[in-house]
Amino acid sequence: MAVIPVDVAGAPYEVRIGTGLLVNLAGECGARLRKRRVPVVTDANVHKAWGETIEGALRQGGHEAAWLILPPGEASKSWDQLAATTDWLLAEEVERGDHVLALGGGVIGDLTGFAAAILKRGCHFIQLPTTLLAQVDSSVGGKTAINTPAGKNLVGAFHQPALVLADLATLDTLPQRELKAGYAEVVKYGLLGDAGFFEWCKANGAAMLAGDAALREYAVAHSVAAKARIVAADERETLGLRALLNLGHTFGHALEAQTGFSDRLLHGEGVALGMVLAARFSAARGLLAVQAAESIAGHFAAIGMASEIASLGLNCDGPALVAHMLHDKKMDAGVLPFVLMKGIGEAFLAKDVALDEVAAFLDGELAR
Ligand code: NAD
Ligand code: GLY
Repeated sequence: MAVIPVDVAGAPYEVRIGTGLLVNLAGECGARLRKRRVPVVTDANVHKAWGETIEGALRQGGHEAAWLILPPGEASKSWDQLAATTDWLLAEEVERGDHVLALGGGVIGDLTGFAAAILKRGCHFIQLPTTLLAQVDSSVGGKTAINTPAGKNLVGAFHQPALVLADLATLDTLPQRELKAGYAEVVKYGLLGDAGFFEWCKANGAAMLAGDAALREYAVAHSVAAKARIVAADERETLGLRALLNLGHTFGHALEAQTGFSDRLLHGEGVALGMVLAARFSAARGLLAVQAAESIAGHFAAIGMASEIASLGLNCDGPALVAHMLHDKKMDAGVLPFVLMKGIGEAFLAKDVALDEVAAFLDGELAR
């Protein structure tokens, strides 16, 4: 098992990564579980795959699982499901000192974390991430949110979990497509700050995705350690450091919006394409070698992910994609900062990017 500390001021916590953590859930949580009934928020897919394991593990520790089982999918990050969750937690008489368990991917983690942030002005929660994306990114760092008709993640709070238990066994029941989508966030850590890790991904990514347990532990632990360093240094994203974690996200978000935040393009798939676009845009600006940008596209193609937006059949032009960026929550006094690259592992925040320039670039990519 790997243990990665997240040294945020005032409330440091651990991310434990290993196989079989959920089977020993009560032992891993220890005295954090103060009562017999333990509130667990999850979605129907995850409950089907892991519900019995959780029940057995809690029973072994003298507890009983109280379940809130939400519909799977991004649509659950809504005001309605937030209200349903907080109402349920209140009915369960959850107190500030209690810990709510969030068992699932980024959707359940973001929603449950936000509910915990506002319940009685804040109660504890424990992340039990069951997707690769959630294990390497969303369960760590305390960003919680729901979506509104105005856009994704526009209402939320910073609220750190008390503990993260990333059980690698959960990845065995995750659909391959979801696994690959999460892998984009693994590659991200290499591209933004660690060229050696990108080389590791190129050499080991396929075997890791195919199920090699040691490679999975290395990939998740290395990614979490990278995120933990960034979050500890810039928890509230005020120093321009945490913003680097958005590499590929501004482009990717526009693609997700254009495809209606649907199954046509998963978040991680949008991030992979977005990182290819950020790299090619950096190359077009003379910042990054074309060959380096193409090595990123080549790696995603090699593991069977889309690497060309022309293949998406978007039926729109560059300005239409840019229009989706205008309401980005990173917009600052009319300037949209872009995470660009000076090299593999050398991402930086560019605040001099004109959206016309981006639109023209995207027209070229759509016609590629
Ligand atoms: P998700 O939570 O929707 O899970 C993907 C799918 O896999 C769902 O259908 C789910 O039911 C299913 N699933 C989950 N675990 C499973 C398992 N072990 N076995 C079988 N099926 C399983 O999606 P995601 O990709 O984990 O998360 C995406 C969300 O994360 C987005 O809302 C995004 O905004 C958010 N996010 C948040 C942060 C953050 O820092 N808070 C970072 C990145 C992404
Ligand atoms: N996923 C971006 C962040 O946590 O800051």
